[in-house]
Amino acid sequence: MTSSGVRLSALRRKFGNVHALDGLDLDLAPGELVALLGPSGCGKTTALRILAGLEDADSGRIIVGDRDIANVPANKRGMGMVFQAYSLFPHLTAIENVEFGLRLRKQSSTVRRRRAQEMLDLVGIGAHAARFPQQLSGGQQQRVALARALAFEPSVLLLDEPLSALDAKVRVQLREEIRRIQLEVGTTTLFVTHDQEEALAIADRVGVMRAGQLEQIGSPEDIYRTPATPFVAEFVGLSNRLAGRVTGDVVEVLDTKLPLVGSVQDGPATALVRPESVDVTADPAGAGRVVAVSFLGPLARVTVALPDDTLVVAQLESARLPELPTGTAVRVVLRPVPVVVSAG
Ligand SMILES: Nc1ncnc2c1ncn2[C@@H]1O[C@H](COP(=O)(O)OP(=O)(O)O)[C@@H](O)[C@H]1O
Ligand SMILES: [Mg+2]
Repeated sequence: MTSSGVRLSALRRKFGNVHALDGLDLDLAPGELVALLGPSGCGKTTALRILAGLEDADSGRIIVGDRDIANVPANKRGMGMVFQAYSLFPHLTAIENVEFGLRLRKQSSTVRRRRAQEMLDLVGIGAHAARFPQQLSGGQQQRVALARALAFEPSVLLLDEPLSALDAKVRVQLREEIRRIQLEVGTTTLFVTHDQEEALAIADRVGVMRAGQLEQIGSPEDIYRTPATPFVAEFVGLSNRLAGRVTGDVVEVLDTKLPLVGSVQDGPATALVRPESVDVTADPAGAGRVVAVSFLGPLARVTVALPDDTLVVAQLESARLPELPTGTAVRVVLRPVPVVVSAG
């Protein structure tokens, strides 16, 4: 299967006085799955629609493979698309929905039927080929939509929040399936989501968007461990906001010197400390008090109040909960992993 790289550069798009895209740069390597992550309204759908040709940019370039496709109409761009939900034709069966895309591409009916069945098998619902959309669950309908998008071997696959209408368990199952299938077919894929866990779980690289621009792009681990900005640190994962003081390349927080991600001016600052970088130990002489405990299965979060009323959340193995009931006096220790700080 062909698989093209994609380069969006300096894309701008205004709606009235809203800058939906404000100079977006984004590269996808051939075969790569990039998750575009960001809060609602940051321009994710606009970026995807411009790449698909459903929307025009005011300026900027769209390169697929080695070709500028800005003037190529949507139906000639060879892109497969899956949207949030309900995009199947209700009067066609699952297999007819998948065949539909192939029909437009003038293949013989035998070839079409065989190809459509293969695609339904690939997405795990080959047995439901004759069902109509309303006879399928939401997750099954999205599998059909994925089969339809992949059937004509698109150069790029575009997914806009394809899982957000599904319940939590199906969402996790289907995202694992999408990743398995994407690796199998090797199609370059842009996966738009506002769900940080989903983005980290599914992507080769995650691009975090803010207000029409790319704030950071990197591997899921990079984005989580070394967020480039306070916005990324706070949007991806949980962070404690703790008052500290920066001196050179360290920030002193709760009497512990922590290395910095990036560099900032000396002086007072807020350090963003992940719950798993905080440890608490029962200690009658400790200054903290456990004020809340939440059980999350193998892990748990323990909230500790310090004498100045600062709240610190620690993430621990839940096996340790028996020693830390609410009210326990504790000592709080920060692990010396790099942290992001924001000014003030
Ligand atoms: N067709 C449109 N007309 C007017 N405003 C739009 C249109 N499409 C998007 N916008 C605005 O552009 C911004 C980005 O929208 P969108 O790309 O849909 O964001 P996201 O998908 O990240 O939630 C939002 O402020 C949105 O209201
Ligand atoms: Mg959107």
